[in-house]
Amino acid sequence: MTEINWTDEAYESILSILGARTGLAFRAAQREATKIGIANAMKRSGVAESSAYAKLLVHDVEALENLIVELTVGETYFFREASQFEGIRREILPEILRRKGGWQKLRIWSAACASGEEPYSLAMLCHKQGLASQCEILATDISSEALSKARQATYRDWSLRGELQAEAKEYLRFDRGIYYVDEKIRRMVRFEFLNLAMDVYPSHVTSTEAMDLILCRNVLIYLSRSTIREVAQRFFQCLADGGWFITASGDPPVGDFAPFETTVTDFGVFYRKPTAAKTEAVVAPEAAWETNEPRDGLYGANSGNISQANRDSQSTAAINRDTRWDKDEAHAALARGDYARAVELSESHPNEPAACIIHVKSLANLSTEAAIRKCALFATRHPLSAELHYLHAVLLMEMNLDVEAVQAVQRVVFLDRSLALAHFLLGSILQRRGTLDGARRAFRNARDLAAARAPDEIVPLSEHETSRLLARAATNHLRAIDAALGATS
Ligand SMILES: C[S@@+](CC[C@H](N)C(=O)[O-])C[C@H]1O[C@@H](n2cnc3c(N)ncnc32)[C@H](O)[C@@H]1O
Repeated sequence: MTEINWTDEAYESILSILGARTGLAFRAAQREATKIGIANAMKRSGVAESSAYAKLLVHDVEALENLIVELTVGETYFFREASQFEGIRREILPEILRRKGGWQKLRIWSAACASGEEPYSLAMLCHKQGLASQCEILATDISSEALSKARQATYRDWSLRGELQAEAKEYLRFDRGIYYVDEKIRRMVRFEFLNLAMDVYPSHVTSTEAMDLILCRNVLIYLSRSTIREVAQRFFQCLADGGWFITASGDPPVGDFAPFETTVTDFGVFYRKPTAAKTEAVVAPEAAWETNEPRDGLYGANSGNISQANRDSQSTAAINRDTRWDKDEAHAALARGDYARAVELSESHPNEPAACIIHVKSLANLSTEAAIRKCALFATRHPLSAELHYLHAVLLMEMNLDVEAVQAVQRVVFLDRSLALAHFLLGSILQRRGTLDGARRAFRNARDLAAARAPDEIVPLSEHETSRLLARAATNHLRAIDAALGATS
């Protein structure tokens, strides 16, 4: 391929797309190295012109992944930072077992696990402690390439360069230059795609709730400060009371971003979520609906004695004090396309699901990114609102964030299986991703649920789609899928 044709504008826009989708951020001093990484990724995607590449990144998931691989170091090895593993063995596991009574499952998450050496090291450690059957280890990463290497579970010498390589070798079989991870260790780890920059955790769907131990090492260094803050706050929420959070010694500190307790041990500094009694006295994140910057006293001394319930009622009162919720006027503004007015009218009522819905719908016409951010917050605030999760899924799909969109729409189906439109949306995303069997199931559900309603009835979650039209559209998709499967079988 010929020399890359750079424009400053395209360079900035590539970084801004990357930042919005992954939270990755690069300093001015890294410009030349970053350009080299981008140029390599452009070669992998077969594009020579930087502004064309910026456009490609918006909708091509594979191109984005190639870029992440080039710009982040996926390097890792077994028992990296040996002292932390020693701390887990000597301090953390015994503490968790004491607290949980020794019979409950231990929930462990290796976030940004790269090619899998970290979660397998955790599995080996737990196995050695006799905890194999008690552990659930989730391992996630944004790179599908890294995840498929991790699932393969074969390694070379380079993955064993750490000082505790002997511990790892006990669970590896060596054959002609390759180490194979024992089946009993592989079975203990579940690998999943998860983009830390997206608001998809904590969640039942991603199985990221009530974690006893989270490791997120050597990835925060790549993220922007605002993403680190959001990630730290989400991890805090993912932890069970008393749960532990470990970053690498070279990672930026996160103690200012969420009310972790910092525990200094002989093996390094570890974060903890205070146990329930203490949490009451600490102000948790996400007071109102804007979370961009910490407010005065959010984690500071002034706020230290306000209980969560008290603080919620205070902030609610403050938010709703001056403005009454004029639902009809907000609806009318949205209907006539006066989105800015509809946003304004719905803005101060985060406790009203209906206001949140109008707010997101209006905002989506002004900025999809802003609407996604708000919708994610509202969906967390109103976890039982199927419509907010549905809107979130639609917006994520619009941004080609299909994996996250599937997770959001699965929440809708989980809340209410009878929503034909949710099944239809799930079918559309799966079809676009080429998951045709799943798409077929979803479209069948949509068709059958729509057909069971009166033909002229507007289907729930929609403003003007009738059951008749939805059933017909689902049938058309089913035909197309059957034709495609017929063609490939
Ligand atoms: C250096 S590796 C860390 C591996 C392991 N945790 C360790 O400390 O050895 C960094 C990993 O972060 C992943 N990563 C980068 N941005 C991410 C994001 N937004 N969400 C999830 N993973 C991300 C990369 O794909 C890469 O596999």
